[in-house]
Amino acid sequence: MLEKIRWLKQEKNAVIIVHNYQRPEIQDIADFVGDSFALSQQAALTDADVILFCGVDFMAESAAILSPDKTVLIPDVDAQCPMAAMITREALITMKQRHPDAGVVCYVNTSAPVKAESDICCTSANAVEVVESLDYDEVIFVPDKNLARYAARFTKKTIIPWDGYCPTHHQILPRDILDAKEKHPGAEVLVHPECRPGVIDLADSAQSTEGMVRHARSSHSNEFIIGTESGMIHRLEKEFPTKKFYAVSDYTICPAMKMVTLPDVVRSLENLKHVVTIPDAVQERAKRALDRMLQVGATR
Ligand code: 13P
Ligand code: SF4
Repeated sequence: MLEKIRWLKQEKNAVIIVHNYQRPEIQDIADFVGDSFALSQQAALTDADVILFCGVDFMAESAAILSPDKTVLIPDVDAQCPMAAMITREALITMKQRHPDAGVVCYVNTSAPVKAESDICCTSANAVEVVESLDYDEVIFVPDKNLARYAARFTKKTIIPWDGYCPTHHQILPRDILDAKEKHPGAEVLVHPECRPGVIDLADSAQSTEGMVRHARSSHSNEFIIGTESGMIHRLEKEFPTKKFYAVSDYTICPAMKMVTLPDVVRSLENLKHVVTIPDAVQERAKRALDRMLQVGATR
């Protein structure tokens, strides 16, 4: 299968872009693996004709928005982020009417129509900087209430959060961190900003998934408790084979992120399916929100 994928990639002039939470065997075939911010950058820069996106719906959509002239493929259309589905365009319009003086930041974990109704997108790597970049004192932040509350720690602006959350991160409880610390007393605790505030309070650092890679590289620690989706452990072990990484619990698995398999990748490249398309009515406005985010950059 690996041989076939290599051959198909060449034949179709395709690049395989993979999120850090994907299955190990999918990460291992990536041309590029990273967090949502870095993947958006890659999607905007590549000169391949075809982008095969191994991640979830909103990531492949972002690639299609940023690279409208390329063929963007998602191997499994059922790989849908439940948090992205927690806010609709209509709900955001109603929220904007209730807060007419507020700017709108949307996490990239949203549909293209929600992006189109927003001033700017953000990822977990730049939520604070994006909020600060707006000329508004009030900021509507959708859909993740945990990332909104995390950003609120670092700004004087009033953040108005939507009541969404990531089921995979929200289920991690302070108790899980305390138990993991008891088991691994010498380990540093890294968690994702999609976690509850009480979990973040117990951690040594809150980082995007790529931020965790950078942190593990620069830290003097040799052991880390990882409070994010379990796919991250493969990425970290591969980068730092002499360091030890422990998942905070056995349940930090995102079903949507685990859907893409190697046979799906072969089928997707062979048949050029499933092509991600963005409605004309939202393409331009959604791209503007993503482009603004790319201009702000990323720090975490
Ligand atoms: P990052 O990799 O950007 O930190 O995103 C985490 C996530 O939950 C993506 O679905
Ligand atoms: Fe969505 Fe959470 Fe899964 Fe990321 S880990 S795709 S935010 S449900």
